[in-house]
Formats: sequence, structure tokens, C-alpha cells
Amino acid sequence: MSLASIILAAGEGTRMKSKLPKVLHRVAGKAMVEHVMDAAAKVGSDRTILVVGSGKSAVEAALSGREIFYAHQTERLGTGHAVSIALEALGDEAHVLILCGDTPLLSSMTLEALVQHHEKSGAGCTVLTAELESPYGYGRILRDSEGNVLGIVEEKDASAEEKCIKEINSGVYVVKRDTLLAEIPRITNDNAQGEYYLTDLIKLARESGERVGAYKTQDAAEISGVNSRVQLSECETLLRQRINKALMLEGVTMIDPSSVYVDADVVVGRDTVVYPGCIIEKGTVIGEDCEIGPNARLKHCHIGNGVTFKDSTGIESTVGDDSTVGPYAYLRPGSVLGQRVKVGDFVEIKNSNIGDDAKISHLTYVGDGDVGENVNLGCGVVFVNYDGKKKHRTVVENDAFVGCNVNLISPVTVGEGAYVAAGSTITKDVPSGSLAIARDKQKNIEGWVKRKNR
Ligand code: UD1
Ligand code: CA
Repeated sequence: MSLASIILAAGEGTRMKSKLPKVLHRVAGKAMVEHVMDAAAKVGSDRTILVVGSGKSAVEAALSGREIFYAHQTERLGTGHAVSIALEALGDEAHVLILCGDTPLLSSMTLEALVQHHEKSGAGCTVLTAELESPYGYGRILRDSEGNVLGIVEEKDASAEEKCIKEINSGVYVVKRDTLLAEIPRITNDNAQGEYYLTDLIKLARESGERVGAYKTQDAAEISGVNSRVQLSECETLLRQRINKALMLEGVTMIDPSSVYVDADVVVGRDTVVYPGCIIEKGTVIGEDCEIGPNARLKHCHIGNGVTFKDSTGIESTVGDDSTVGPYAYLRPGSVLGQRVKVGDFVEIKNSNIGDDAKISHLTYVGDGDVGENVNLGCGVVFVNYDGKKKHRTVVENDAFVGCNVNLISPVTVGEGAYVAAGSTITKDVPSGSLAIARDKQKNIEGWVKRKNR
């Protein structure tokens, strides 16, 4: 079944009190509207038409990597009007999903069930509904005595009797393309709000002799839209619980999932244990058999298998299999660690490559460096990469040993297998296989203390 989706997102989002268009606010690290788009894509929608209003340019900029057709609604005349201006961006898809941009909890499972129900029933239009204890504010689903859907009445237009109906309109629909094209132009604004109500589609399609239907979801929380930052945080909590649960069901151990924050689309391999206090952000992929945390933050990182990463931060970095990082290490963007690397406490690495089996155990800064395999950097080594104007690279070749408290003034190379004596400040290249000592000879002044204290 070929499917397009129209996502309504022209609302002002006034209650968010934000410069940012509402649908760009993030839940679990991803803009609300992206959650909706991704759910639609999962059920086979291969065209996204996004109806935007005054926030158009901000939305376009934020979603620039995605293929989206935009419809610009300059005047907010109602949901029916919003859909009408989206129609010209339709392709030849046989069915159209209509969604709202502010419902990030809507799952692809629920959408799938809706689409299947629509397909099986052969209806011209199928609406997603839910039963709510307090349906106030929502459109209510009108049915006849046999349960056939007749239409939708908005809160402001409803009679006292209709207001008692607990089945509500979620604002999500699947419609046959032909039905949509035929009925949208017939919608009028003759109602309490003077708006073009998309909800009239049901009644109009029925009048034209089409079958109309409803699929009622049991999970009413999924359809709740976000209007304020309070609701945003409630959504965040629910979505994070869902993400953690899915990861655990896939074989990840979480000691205390309530303290673990994992963004949408993060991948974590089997038998990895995530300790409390971890924040695993967008774009991160973690392999199998790792120990992550406690208190680790990873953003846009690729972590191999069997890695230990505790009490540390990694940003836009890669850690190879069986390496250990932390506690208290900081991998800044562009850090690429090979396999079985050991990075210990108070080590900062930036824009550097670290070869397999290298050890950087404590209190070291590696900036703009290329560190070979099996290199040992002692305690307190500093790559002096910045001369006040420019950054330079430092190369430490395979099997080299750099003693404690060494400054490597870049650009400089320490050759293969070379040794650098502790306390040296290295300004010239060190040839392979040699020992460099660049420090004053020690002088002992005997009896000095006694003379001083006289
Ligand atoms: C709508 C439904 C209501 C349903 C509810 C579910 C109508 C007439 N009513 O009501 O039956 O229970 O959603 O949340 O459709 N939008 C535009 N352009 C417009 C108007 C709205 O893009 O001109 C967008 C909004 O940004 C929002 C969505 O459409 O994403 C729904 O609009 P909203 O004003 O929230 O509709 P409700 O009155 O809540
Ligand atoms: Ca609404």
C-alpha cells in the first residue's frame, strides 16, 4: 500500500513560551516532529509533507538533512485548511496518513495497527481514536446504535449529551487519496470557531457514500500532544522508559533504568551493562559486553565490544574493542582509540589517534596527536599543541616510551621505540631507538639545610 504523510505543524505553540517552533523541541534528543516522521516512515510512508507556519525557516534549517516537502500555511484557518494546502505536494500515493507534529509518543506499532485496520476495512477514511476519562477539549467520535462512525464533533460545537462521549479524536487519520482530494475542498468554516475543520472529512466522506471507520488504541498516552514544557518533560519520561525497556528486552542490563538517559535511535549491544547515572546521547553506538558507567556521558560516539567506560565523557569519539576509559577521562571530538587501549584518570584527548595497546594511564593531555601502537605515555605528559596562534601535531611512533611529566612541544616526532626521560621538554624530533633527555643535571649541595637554619 503506497503511503504519503501530511504532518500538521503550523501551530504557534504559544504555551511553550519559546523562540523555537514547538515541533522542534526535543524529546529524547530528537525533535518532536522527527519522532512523528520516523514513525510514519516505519509504516511505509515514503513522502513527508510538512505544513509549517511562521516558524518555516527555522524548521527547514533544523531538518535540512531530511527529504521533506513543505507546505506553507501563512494564515491559520484550521486543520482542514492546513491539509488543503498540503495536497499539491502529494505524489501518486494511494493513501495518506495525516498526523500532528507534536505527538512524539505515537508509536509505529499503533500507526501500523491503524493502517492495517484501514486497509482491511476498505474504508475511505479511518480515524485513530482513544477512550479518555476526561475527554474535555478533544473532538468526540459520534457513532450510531450499531457502532458505525458517523462523524466527529468538536468540544465547542458539542451538545451537552455529546460532551459525555468519552471516545475522542486523536487527530490522526488514514485517508484514501481520492477521498481526500474529493472531500477536502467541500469543507466549510461554518462552525463555532469559524475554522475549516479537518474532522468534517468523516461526515462528508460518509455522505458521499464512502465507508468510514475508526481504530481505537488502548494506549491513550501515545496520542497526547505537547503544548507546554511540563507536558514536554512528561513525554520525555515516558519515551525514555520506552527506550530503556526496549534495550533491556534486547539484552542490555540496566542496574537502575530510572537513572539512565538514552536518546532515541541509540544502539547498545547485548550483554552490555549500563550502570546508574549514564547519559547516552544521539548518534551513539555501543557494542556488546561493555561496561558503561557509572556516570558516563557519551554523545555521537562509537564504542566497540568489551569496552569499559566509567565516570567519563566522550564526544564525537571512537573507542576500539576491549579498551578501558576512565574514571574521569574526557574524550573530546575527534579522539579515535584503537583496541585494548588504556586511558586512565584525568586524561584529556582531543582530535588524536591512539594506536592499539597504547597506555595513557593518568593526568595527561593529548591534543592533535598521532600516538602509535603499544606506546606508553607516563603520568603528566603534555602535548603542547598550541603556540598561541596555530595548533600543531605531535607524533609518537610505535613502541615509544614517554616518561612522566614530559612536554612535547609540537610539531615534533618521537621515533619508533624511542625513550623520553621523565621531566624532559622536547622541542626537537627524537630519532627511533634513541633516548632523549632534556632537563638540567641534578646538583646536590651538601649541608645546605643546616647552614640555612643557622
Ligand atoms: C484537533 C481536532 C480534534 C482532536 C484534536 C486532537 C480539528 C478541528 N480538531 O483539535 O478533533 O481531538 O486535534 O489533538 O481538527 N494546525 C495547523 N494549521 C491550522 C490549525 C492547526 O497546522 O490552521 C496544526 C496544529 O499545529 C496542530 C494540529 O494541527 O499540530 C492540531 O491543531 P489544534 O489547534 O491543536 O487542534 P485542536 O483544536 O486541538
Ligand atoms: Ca491540540
